[in-house]
Amino acid sequence: MKRIIEHPILGKEKKRKKIKIIVNGKNMYAYKGETIAAALIANSHRGFSYTHRFNLPRGFFCGIGQCTDCSMIVNGVPNIRTCVTRVEEGMIIETQYGYGDKDENNEGS
Ligand code: FES
Repeated sequence: MKRIIEHPILGKEKKRKKIKIIVNGKNMYAYKGETIAAALIANSHRGFSYTHRFNLPRGFFCGIGQCTDCSMIVNGVPNIRTCVTRVEEGMIIETQYGYGDKDENNEGS
């Protein structure tokens, strides 16, 4: 897990509760209060979604909920902007293909 433990300006990281999330069927760990995108990047996960038309990979881009490049399927709900959505214990997160409907999702797998 890649994280900044001690920042030159912000200081040492405060102790936070570690929680489990499930990403594409694999267990990963996150810290309570961080966004899904932050947890995924800390776990070296970069591919968040694939475009509908050309099946091109998308990932973290704006980081402020404006571009939708970080959209994923979260607990069965497509188009969740992971850069502005906080992790929850046991959250199920899946790569989104296209618009995230089930038929399209199966095509891209
Ligand atoms: S990275 Fe742009 S909306 Fe999340």
